[in-house]
Amino acid sequence: MAESMLGLKRSHRCTEVTAANAGGEVTVMGWVQKSRNKGGIIFVDLRDRSGILQIIFEESDCGAESFAKAEKLRSEFVIAVTGTVENRAGSANENLATGSIEVRAKDLRVLSESETPPFPIEENSKTKEELRLKYRYLDLRRPDIQKNIMVRSQVAILTRAFLAEEGFLEIETPTLIKSTPEGARDYLVPSRVHPGSFYALPQSPQLFKQLLMCSGYDRYFQLARCYRDEDLRADRQPEFTQIDMELSFVDVEDVLEVNERLLQKLFKEICNFDIQLPIQRMTWREAMDRFGSDKPDLRFGMELKNVSGIVKDTEFAVFKGALEHGGSVRGINAKGQGAMPRKKIDALVEYAKGFGAKGLAYLAINEDGTYKCSFSKFMSEEELHKLADAMEGTAGDLLLFAADKDSVVFDVLGNLRLELARQLDLLKKDEYKFLWVTEFPLLEYSEEHGRFTAVHHPFTMPMDEDWALIDSDPGAIRAKAYDMVLNGTELGGGSVRIHQSDIQSRMFDILGFTREQAQEQFGFLLDAFRFGVPPHAGLAYGLDRIVMLMVGADSIREVMAFPKVKDASCLMSEAPSPVDPQQLVDLRIEISEEVNRQQ
Ligand code: AMO
Ligand code: AMP
Repeated sequence: MAESMLGLKRSHRCTEVTAANAGGEVTVMGWVQKSRNKGGIIFVDLRDRSGILQIIFEESDCGAESFAKAEKLRSEFVIAVTGTVENRAGSANENLATGSIEVRAKDLRVLSESETPPFPIEENSKTKEELRLKYRYLDLRRPDIQKNIMVRSQVAILTRAFLAEEGFLEIETPTLIKSTPEGARDYLVPSRVHPGSFYALPQSPQLFKQLLMCSGYDRYFQLARCYRDEDLRADRQPEFTQIDMELSFVDVEDVLEVNERLLQKLFKEICNFDIQLPIQRMTWREAMDRFGSDKPDLRFGMELKNVSGIVKDTEFAVFKGALEHGGSVRGINAKGQGAMPRKKIDALVEYAKGFGAKGLAYLAINEDGTYKCSFSKFMSEEELHKLADAMEGTAGDLLLFAADKDSVVFDVLGNLRLELARQLDLLKKDEYKFLWVTEFPLLEYSEEHGRFTAVHHPFTMPMDEDWALIDSDPGAIRAKAYDMVLNGTELGGGSVRIHQSDIQSRMFDILGFTREQAQEQFGFLLDAFRFGVPPHAGLAYGLDRIVMLMVGADSIREVMAFPKVKDASCLMSEAPSPVDPQQLVDLRIEISEEVNRQQ
């Protein structure tokens, strides 16, 4: 039977009741975590979003009616209790924030009963994620998820306050927009009024924030929902939230400076972690050479070394072949791992193959200085010595080499480095290594399209000193683009934008857009640029990723209230779903026979 709250008002959240309230009366409301009947005395752990408070029922205090109700309490019943706060003499529970006190109930109301939940509502749940997500409203009651969601709220509120203080305006941009071909795949929304035409959901507010700069709003921000139809991973969801900003009359330094202070503020307030400013910077080139990645994890070393020069005259076909084809031979030194069993090394080779390696060559230095090496029969003892020396290999080390074109070598060794760090437990979640990666390439050649594509997006400004290469060597042009990387995760990225029409049209040429196509896709931006455009630059963070790293979660699903799973569906609401046929008629959309057969 559900009773009403009428006449009752909650006075405290559970853990807001403290020893200072001892002797006073409180009214608390929440969910029954558990209830223990010790015959004549009933203990109830009451839970709300603040934590847990112990309630004691004895018939002599609360009367027969409330006691009878207390006897029937079960997990997840919602109750209201009025009672007196008491110090727990001698029986304090140190595991609870409220462990030194308890509430002796005078009155109990059962506001709502509960069926037995499909899984226990507890911290560090062992329940399968599918079940948790199907009943996400129950999962969201668990203290660890509640903490994540509360941290997320705090990040949003602190960000707003900080940016407002810095003179940024919060402005909303539309989420039904024109589809653009660059970047990931768009989510489309059919128009009823314009049959056959579609809106796209924004992948980011990019074009609109640039227009706001043209309109003179000079510092904009938004906590923007973005949508991308791409393969999901632990740090990727089809809809996610950006802390998005754009600034006028600035260059790279200005953007990085205000953002360093934003990050410093967030990590201080939430994690009590002091970021030392300025944050370390590394060019993209250096990041690739040293870590094989444009988002290096700096919590450990194991840097890549280029040994192409050392092995340039080798007869070992694998190394020789890679060098002859313009590639390189590089290695990493897994310090102290020389005794790694063959089986484990083989597993690393397989892991490397997953990233496109044709193989992985290894050289283990035994404690007595002899070698165990997968290519010893192809190299002289002296060559092996030179190689080991170049890798700073000493007794007990394991050296791993990849030979291929650079992009493959970087991908293989960059990932292998991370895999070894995971195996060796080198990745501490409470250690934060922030890094700006700068000077990204402007363009990359796409074999698939047979032309250059933009690494960041088509509006990114080339570095002044590199623009002269546009005709001779476009691939070598560096961009005024930067990423914020934390512990190997790309937290955010941005760039200075092109505001000169001659540079922009040259960019479109090289990206393979005709004038007409550029006008068709981005006409409104190009038109706006004809009427006075300030130099501008910006950046966007993945809010979900920031919170994920702050709370030490393994996936952004743990910090979003209602996330989707790998196939982009919501297990709770069962979206996406077929719709009423009449809706399709209204939209003049027909489902193909093939799909109908599958359904
Ligand atoms: P970018 O595409 O790099 O830049 O996105 C910025 C940040 O958004 C986060 N992010 C994601 N988070 C969760 N799920 C996803 N699918 C996902 N995709 C991206 C990442 C990323 O660093 N408009 C530009 C920014 C700019 O130039 O100002 C942009 O969107 O943390
Ligand atoms: P093979 O000549 O194929 O027996 O290879 C000799 C050694 O080189 C083996 O340990 C292979 O795993 C390794 N290997 C093969 N291809 C590559 C490559 N592209 N990079 C590094 N090592 C390789």
